[in-house]
Amino acid sequence: MKIGFFGGTFNPPHSGHMSAAAAAIKQLGLDKLFFIPTAVPPHKKLPDDSAAGIQRYEMLKEACKDIPNSEALDIELRRGGESYTADTARELKAQYPEAELWMLCGEDMFLTLEQWYRSDWIFKNVNIAVFARNDFAEKKLARHAAQLASDKGASVELIKSEPVVISSTKLREMLKNGAGGEYLSDGVYSYILKNRLYGVRPQPDKLWKLVEPWIKEKRRDHVSGCRAEAVKLAVRWGADVLDAENAAILHDLTKGMDSNEQLILCEKYGKIIRNIDKDDFNVLHAFTGAEIAGALFGASDEVCSAIRWHTTGKADMTLLEKIIWLADYIEPGRSFPGVEEVRRLAYTDIDEAMKLALGMSLDNLKNRGIKPYGATFDALAFLADKGE
Ligand SMILES: [Fe+2]
Ligand SMILES: [Fe+2]
Repeated sequence: MKIGFFGGTFNPPHSGHMSAAAAAIKQLGLDKLFFIPTAVPPHKKLPDDSAAGIQRYEMLKEACKDIPNSEALDIELRRGGESYTADTARELKAQYPEAELWMLCGEDMFLTLEQWYRSDWIFKNVNIAVFARNDFAEKKLARHAAQLASDKGASVELIKSEPVVISSTKLREMLKNGAGGEYLSDGVYSYILKNRLYGVRPQPDKLWKLVEPWIKEKRRDHVSGCRAEAVKLAVRWGADVLDAENAAILHDLTKGMDSNEQLILCEKYGKIIRNIDKDDFNVLHAFTGAEIAGALFGASDEVCSAIRWHTTGKADMTLLEKIIWLADYIEPGRSFPGVEEVRRLAYTDIDEAMKLALGMSLDNLKNRGIKPYGATFDALAFLADKGE
């Protein structure tokens, strides 16, 4: 049985790690590969915005779902303190005495192996698989491998893989700016959003992929239309485009569920909805959608508020709240008498557009015999006062 292990901070685990690991599993014919998150790395300090050890482990568990024969192991976290590879390898050897052990490592680590704690023991008991970044590196690594083989009796194999060039530092920076999702599995990205790691702001395309299964097929065109409209309005009025796009993607998140399902889901995430008529389905989905967007999808308070008020409006709305309210009302799929005038005003005078649309919305409810929500009157009254 061949067992590999791959240690690192995995902060977060990304496609650079995972594609290298998959190549190693294939090339070496590993029966199992363990990913082992470091507790405290001996040679470098974890940056301040790092995820906790347990979070790095849980992210790895998510990432492993996409790599057959792989598994995350928390042995270094449980051991605590500085994580030395020799200790980890000993533990694995004790657990799998018959196995051929392979340690996976990157180029930089490989070139300093001799200075590691108990490196002679490692060379005697563990085979080493090193990832080569390119042909030039491959030559350098091959020379070093030959040297280690003759000096220390080490067994080294170079892993040939198409490297995914991304550093964790760069990736964490990208996550803060609504980017970088393409380097992360959906499971890892969801985990990061849910736990709001690394100051993440949701990346619209990745968010859409995660949210799509929540939205009934018949409503997807509406949400896409709302997303496009929200972006255009945000650009026109100088609002935060990323927030507008994400709020639009999330605004009807819970609309496909019945009232009970919505409330049960909110309770599950510790969100209790109060002061709302639970039978008022149209209003309820805005409230529950906001709570779930915050609990599961990393939506900021501003984005949650825009979702919360997207059906009724309220007094003194923020620019983002107005944009989402209007985008929902005038997205390209909407067609009803008067919508063209609201569309025109939305790009020339946003408050006038709101006034007209709120009035139309109240008339519509009245004609259908539906009691309007008080906040809609407040929204209209506030804008009327402001206009005087
Ligand atoms: Fe809605
Ligand atoms: Fe909507």
